[in-house]
Amino acid sequence: MARQDQITPPLAPHSGERQDPRGPEHVAIIMDGNGRWAQMRGRPRLFGHHAGAQRIREVLEACPDLGVKYLTIFAFSTENWKRTQTEVAGLMRLFRHYIQREARELLKSGVRVRFIGDRIKLDDKLVSLMDELELLTSGNDKVHLTIALNYGGRDEVTRAAKRLAYEIEMGRLTHQDVDAETLARFLDTRVLPDPDLVIRTSGEARISNFLLWQSAYAEYEFVDTLWPDFTRAEFARIVASYAARDRRFGAVSA
Ligand code: IPE
Ligand code: IPE
Ligand code: MG
Repeated sequence: MARQDQITPPLAPHSGERQDPRGPEHVAIIMDGNGRWAQMRGRPRLFGHHAGAQRIREVLEACPDLGVKYLTIFAFSTENWKRTQTEVAGLMRLFRHYIQREARELLKSGVRVRFIGDRIKLDDKLVSLMDELELLTSGNDKVHLTIALNYGGRDEVTRAAKRLAYEIEMGRLTHQDVDAETLARFLDTRVLPDPDLVIRTSGEARISNFLLWQSAYAEYEFVDTLWPDFTRAEFARIVASYAARDRRFGAVSA
């Protein structure tokens, strides 16, 4: 497609964005700092969320050039319902608009979109937009974008354990079948590889219930930048620095 050619610049050796075979295949991002970004400008928190949503496209477009096949972003946690009704309602409206506005571009750019998290608490209109976008982009394979919406790591593992228990109750599995691999097949992320690199913006050095199971051996990068200020250049720098890390997975390095 012509459009894909346009957004994928040739890999120039001096670009600093050349794909490294040791680069991360799956990057997950905790997009934090929207509220503070807005407050610093004397604006309501939702202004920051809107600015933050606009940063996603730039990071997503950089992925093919950087060799990142999977990008997972934390949009709303199971704990974010504790915020004011105004903020929660504004975020839900933003998610609906984001999906409607970006669907065509995502499809054209070869992005396959998935959602993880519990849909039960989300309103029907949003859930049907999510379902439609997943279906619409299901033939794409250039980049796999996963959006974590009403997602919590503990909630995900709990739901997986419940489904597993149900399978046992139904006699389709026995307790002897329960191992890490079987449990992982019941997680929302069952079709995704584990993240290699998790980035959190805004200076907070915590996980806040994001991909707890899947990030057991992920590398972490905490940066001070507030999410609405995060750029392609910073993303490229972090991805490039990943190649220098020595991942040992409990073993001794060669
Ligand atoms: C992250 O930004 C977005 C969501 C949690 C929805 P915040 O809204 O947490 O921004 P800060 O951390 O208050 O600055
Ligand atoms: C994590 O950020 C959730 C998202 C980015 C969606 P929070 O701002 O909710 O996390 P805490 O409250 O600072 O731990
Ligand atoms: Mg925050």
